[in-house]
Amino acid sequence: DDGECDARIVAAKNILGKRLAILGHHYQRNEVFKHADFTGDSLKLSQLAATTDAEFIIFCGVHFMAEVADIVTDGKRTVILPDLAAGCSMADMANLVKVKKCWEEISQILDPDEKVTPVTYINSAADLKAFCGNHGGIVCTSSNARGVLEWSFSRREKVLFFPDQHLGRNTGVRMGIPLEQMVTWDFMKPRGGLTDDEIRNAKMILWKGFCSVHQMFQASHINNFRKQFPEGKVISHPENNYEVVQMSDVVGSTETILRTVRASAPGTHWLVGTELNLVNRLADEVKSKNITVQFMSPTVCMCSTMFRTDPQHLAWVLDNLVAGNVVNRIRVPSEIAKPARAALNLMLEVVD
Ligand code: 13P
Ligand code: SF4
Repeated sequence: DDGECDARIVAAKNILGKRLAILGHHYQRNEVFKHADFTGDSLKLSQLAATTDAEFIIFCGVHFMAEVADIVTDGKRTVILPDLAAGCSMADMANLVKVKKCWEEISQILDPDEKVTPVTYINSAADLKAFCGNHGGIVCTSSNARGVLEWSFSRREKVLFFPDQHLGRNTGVRMGIPLEQMVTWDFMKPRGGLTDDEIRNAKMILWKGFCSVHQMFQASHINNFRKQFPEGKVISHPENNYEVVQMSDVVGSTETILRTVRASAPGTHWLVGTELNLVNRLADEVKSKNITVQFMSPTVCMCSTMFRTDPQHLAWVLDNLVAGNVVNRIRVPSEIAKPARAALNLMLEVVD
């Protein structure tokens, strides 16, 4: 049961001491989140992974995050993902075969290595980060997408952004790029379902991926909220669709959402468009400040893969570590890790 798992986790943490760092993403369930030594959004966690002295990093998050931790630590730390089935459905919407095909198809119209910067959202497999590293491209997170895109456009005239169309579109719009200069690459269709002219004239080519959690939030939810609470405020994640983001008062990464709501005036009523575990925890935390927090969707929608990491898996990997066994280690082969690291380091260099 959970009580027994808690005791095993606490005991193992005591034995391993500073040799161990448990990182927890904000979407983790409470029973796991409370054991994290460090918590954060994707950017903060990748920076923490890069700077920790701990020998073992247990990543309570999803697969691409553990890969990033292994890449930025140059394989010098042992990175463990408690449940190997904790993936990300959005990350899975792009893969190397499809992205290479896209690049080749674009090259029938223009020279992508001269004109297009490939930008991958950190929510992607390591080999896609490597693809970016090998083609003059870069990685971004939801908190630095704008700075990364500004850097990209200062070098080449177009951007191929994958896998999340929404983060790409929402960031582009904030930078003043007109919607007409953005096209969506439908990876199920030849040439992305686009004409030569559409590709030639586009400033941003957006991969047709999306987050299965954030796609649940709709403009109608915000309209209903505004009718009920005309003074209320809406805050949402940039993985939301264009309408939701346009209608929000504040848009930002999970870390920004937490910081903004925590710092708001007593009496503020928030509608929050991001994952339920974060929203519930935040609602509990700010209740005492007389700040209320409401989840954007009337239906319960959690990230099912983030939810896979449970106390049982955490206790199991820790028990093994104490016994000298490493289970569920995430290792990125060096030929992929090297160019992927270049694209990640570039991100950390070009934006604060
Ligand atoms: P951030 O924590 O970077 O805002 O990302 C949200 C997310 O969807 C992670 O998978
Ligand atoms: Fe992936 Fe969305 Fe889950 Fe984040 S919330 S891990 S983007 S499916």
